[in-house]
Amino acid sequence: MKSLEFRNVGFNVKIGTGKDAKYKTILSNINGSIESGELVALIGSSGAGKTTLLNLLSGRILGGTVTGDILFNGEKRDKKTFKRDVAYVEQDDLLFGTLTTKETLMYAADFRLDASEYTKQEKEDRVKDVMRSLRLTKSEDTLIGFEGHKGLSGGERKRVSIGVEIVTDPKMIMLDEPTSGLDSNSSEVIVKLMKSIAVKKDLICISSIHQPSSKIFYTFDKVMLLAPGGVVYFGSTRDVLPYFSSIGFEAPIHENPADFLIDIMTIDYENEENLQNSMDRVDRLKSSWAEYVSENGEIYKSNISAGTSMTSFNPDQSEPKNTEFDGPTEVWKNPWLSELRILTKRSWLRQMRDKSFLYSQAFSCVFGILLIGFTFFKRADGFSDAQNKIGLLFLLVLHNAFPVAMPVVPVLIEERGIMIRERASGSYRMSTFLFSNILTQAPIALASNITSLTAIYYLGKLQFHTGKYFTFIAIYIVVVMNSLGIAFVFSAASPNMRVAAMFTPLFLTVFAIYGGALVNATAVTPILSWIRYLDYMYFSYTAALQNEMKGLVFDCSKNTSGTCYPTGESVVLSFNLNLRTVWESFFICLGMAIFYHILAYAIIRFKTKPKYILV
Ligand SMILES: Nc1ncnc2c1ncn2[C@@H]1O[C@H](COP(=O)(O)OP(=O)(O)O)[C@@H](O)[C@H]1O
Ligand SMILES: [Mg+2]
Repeated sequence: MKSLEFRNVGFNVKIGTGKDAKYKTILSNINGSIESGELVALIGSSGAGKTTLLNLLSGRILGGTVTGDILFNGEKRDKKTFKRDVAYVEQDDLLFGTLTTKETLMYAADFRLDASEYTKQEKEDRVKDVMRSLRLTKSEDTLIGFEGHKGLSGGERKRVSIGVEIVTDPKMIMLDEPTSGLDSNSSEVIVKLMKSIAVKKDLICISSIHQPSSKIFYTFDKVMLLAPGGVVYFGSTRDVLPYFSSIGFEAPIHENPADFLIDIMTIDYENEENLQNSMDRVDRLKSSWAEYVSENGEIYKSNISAGTSMTSFNPDQSEPKNTEFDGPTEVWKNPWLSELRILTKRSWLRQMRDKSFLYSQAFSCVFGILLIGFTFFKRADGFSDAQNKIGLLFLLVLHNAFPVAMPVVPVLIEERGIMIRERASGSYRMSTFLFSNILTQAPIALASNITSLTAIYYLGKLQFHTGKYFTFIAIYIVVVMNSLGIAFVFSAASPNMRVAAMFTPLFLTVFAIYGGALVNATAVTPILSWIRYLDYMYFSYTAALQNEMKGLVFDCSKNTSGTCYPTGESVVLSFNLNLRTVWESFFICLGMAIFYHILAYAIIRFKTKPKYILV
C-alpha cells in the first residue's frame, strides 16, 4: 500500500514587483490522503486551484511559496527519486503530430528507461503492454495527427499522453482534466482505463475532472471538492450526496451529482447580491466540512493506515521551508551519444514526414535558382556589370538568411515545448537536444542552398575559377550556419511563436542594413557603426565581394554614363569593404556562427531550467 498525504498545504504567489507587490493565496489548508489502487477525482469550478494542487502534489511547481507537508509513504518526498515515481499527464497534449502511436511510446521508453537496465526487447515489451492496457494496439501505426492530417481521435491522443507517462512504471499518476474536450463515450473509456490501471498496477491516482457524467463520477472511488479557498468535501463518492443533504444541500433527484456540486461551490459574479450569497454559501460549506472533520476524523482515510502517519505529523514544524532543486539531478538514462542518436533520429523522422515542408524547401530552391540565376544571366558591360555583381552577392547573403531562418523558428518552438515537458521527467540533456536540432536542420538547409548557389554561380557568370567557387560556397555555408544560429537564439529566447516571428526578421533586417551593400561601411553615424562588428552579413559580404572582385577587369570603353570601375579591386575600395581580408572575414563569420549556437544553448538552458519545489 502506497500513500500520498498532504497536510495543511498552501500556496501563495507574489503578484507585481517592488512596492506594489501583493501576495495572493491560491490554496490554503488543504488536507487529505490518497492511497494506491483507488481513483480520486478532483472537482472544482474553474480557477479553484485544481491544476495548482496537482502541480504541488507532483512537485512541478515552479515558484511561489509552498507551505505545509506532502508525504509519500509517510515520508518527505525525496528529490532524487520522486520525479521518477510520479507521472503527470498535463491538460494539453504535447505530442509530435508526425510520429505514430507506437513510435511516440517507443521514444518515451528510450528516453525514460535506463539504457543499462532495459534491453531494446524489454522496452518494446513494455510499450506493447502499455498499448494493450490503454487499448491503443489497434492504432499503433496511426500518426498522432497534425494540421491537415487527421490522425488519432481526441480520446486516443489523450491515451497516448497517458501512455507516455506510464511507460516508466510510476508509482503514482496525476491527470489534469484528461476528459476535457472529449465526448462522453471517450471520457468514460479514459476514466475506466485509469481505474483498471490504478488497480492492476496499484497506483496512486488523482485526476481533476470537468463536468463528469453521473456514470463517470461514480467510477471514481473518492472525490475531493475544491471550492475557491478550500476543500469542502473529501471522501467516498457514494457518501457525497448524503453528506451535503445532511448539511442542508439537497441534490435535485435527476440532476447530475457533479453539476450540482459545482453549482453550490461556485462563486457567482453576476451581480452584487448573487456574489454575496454565493460567498456566504461557500463559507458555510467550508466551515461545515471543518466541523465534520473535527467530529468524524479524516473520513477519506481508510482505517488501515490511519494513525501511523498521523502521529508522525507535527503541525508546529510545518513552517514554510521549501527545498528547491534544479530539474533532474539524477543520472541520465542514456549515454550522451546514444541520447543524441535517439533524438536526432526522432527529429529526422518528423522532418521527413513533413512533406509540405520538404516540397516547399525544394520549390524555394528551384525558384531561387530560376529567379536569381536568370536575373543576372545577361552579361552587362562596364559599370552595370560591376553593379550586378555587387547586387548578386548581397542578394545571396539575404537569400541565405531570411528563407533559412524563418521556417526553422516554428519547428524549434514546437520542439522546445515538448522538450520542456520531457526534461521535467529527466528525459535527456539540453546539449543533446540542441545538437540533434542542428543535425536535423543544417543538412537540409545546406543541401538546398549549396545546390542553388552552385546553379546561380554558373548562371550569374561569376568567375570561372575552382578556388573562387569553393571559397564562395564556403562563405555562404557560414552564412547559412549563422542564419540558423540566429533562428536558434530567437526561438530559445522568445516566450512564444509570435514574438519569435517578430524578432527574428527584425534582427536580420538590422544586419542587412549594416551588411555593407546598402550603407557604406565607413560612412555610418559613429554611434551605430559598432553594429557591423556583430554583423555576420557584413563580414560574409566583405569576403564574398573580395573573392569575386579580385582580378576582375571591367570594360569601361562601352560605358555610356560617366562613372565606371576599371577593376574589381576599385569596386571593393570604393565600398570600403577591404578592411578585412577574405579569410579574416570568413573566420570571423565562422566564429559568429559558433557564438550564436552557444548563445542559444546558454539562453535555453537558463530559461527552461526547471526549479521544482518539494515540501
Ligand atoms: N503563478 C501564478 N501566479 C498568479 N496566479 C496564479 C498562478 N498560478 C495560478 N494562479 C491563479 O490561481 C487560480 C487557480 O488556478 P488553477 O490552479 O489553474 O485553477 P483550475 O485548474 O482549478 O482552473 C487562478 O485564479 C489562477 O489565475
Ligand atoms: Mg486547470
